Amino acid sequence: MEYKNSDLKKLATEIERDLKSEKSTKELKAKYLGKQGLFSSQLKKIGTIAKEKRAEYGKEANTLKQYIEESLEQKAFTELNKISTSKQIDVTAKFDINTPEEKKPKLLSQPGSQHPLTQELEYILGIFTSMGFDIEECRQIDNDYNMFEALNFPKGHPARDLWDTFWTDENLIPPAHTSTMQNRVLRKYEPPIRVVIPGRCYRNEATDASHEHTLHQIEGVYVDQGISLGDMIGTIKTYLEAFFNTELKAKVQPAFFPFTEPDLEFLISCPFCAQAGCNICGKTGWIEAMGCGMIHPNVLKEGGLDPEKYSGFAWGFGLDRLVMIKNGIEDIRWLHSGNLNFIKQF
Ligand code: PHE
Repeated sequence: MEYKNSDLKKLATEIERDLKSEKSTKELKAKYLGKQGLFSSQLKKIGTIAKEKRAEYGKEANTLKQYIEESLEQKAFTELNKISTSKQIDVTAKFDINTPEEKKPKLLSQPGSQHPLTQELEYILGIFTSMGFDIEECRQIDNDYNMFEALNFPKGHPARDLWDTFWTDENLIPPAHTSTMQNRVLRKYEPPIRVVIPGRCYRNEATDASHEHTLHQIEGVYVDQGISLGDMIGTIKTYLEAFFNTELKAKVQPAFFPFTEPDLEFLISCPFCAQAGCNICGKTGWIEAMGCGMIHPNVLKEGGLDPEKYSGFAWGFGLDRLVMIKNGIEDIRWLHSGNLNFIKQF
């Protein structure tokens, strides 16, 4: 990109040089994008630009900002891969129990460690089992019926776009959410139904520090006679208080899901700052914990249950964000990096 404004042009040349240097991503982020950073200071000069050139300046500055942000993100990711490949592992070497410790490669002499996602999942499932829930694993490949039709998405309905995912040539779908299992669970169990469904989900996403094409969700399904919204709020709050090991305030706000009625977003008071306002809750004091709602009568009917007799609720929440928040991990891509130096820290 050729910048017409000479200051921006200079800045672009400087960042190019820095990107090729040994300087760390953190250092460069502060240098350019920090509050006192070169880019932020440059932006403040817009007042000194002649009026008729301001629009062009603004446009160029935006392009440059985007370029800096994307390049630094890319640099961070390259650094991450470098760490993982810098260790040489001899895959042909043979070791047995009699090999002296010092001759074993370090990786073999250390006990393995569980991935942070697995650790958290086991902890969460432990809470739900103690609350009387069964566990069903989500399938990794599914079809249009379970992904959409059984969940009250008519064919061609625009709401399908909200869960855009990948399709195989055979019209199969890697599930975009664990709700794909609702119909199976409703058919398989007799009320009272209490099931949690952990699973890996796939979305048609461009990846960045907070988005991944692969994510993990935990669905909950609860059906019996006379189940109300109050039961839902009590159950979810009980789980979240056990998870964060503290008392929480809870509230719900409207959301949109075709498979529940009403459709809600469940919020909790921020357990990290006791609502004083921190970075994790975006200074609002509240954290969006999950989507939930009373299961739509059409979904119950499709699952073979009479909605006149039974009612219930469902929820779905993401695991990856919880693990990130709890461990202060800033980039979601670390979770799938396969980087042993990262995993060993847990
Ligand atoms: N499946 C929804 C999602 O992925 C979450 C959800 C599950 C909402 C169950 C309501 C009931 O966003």
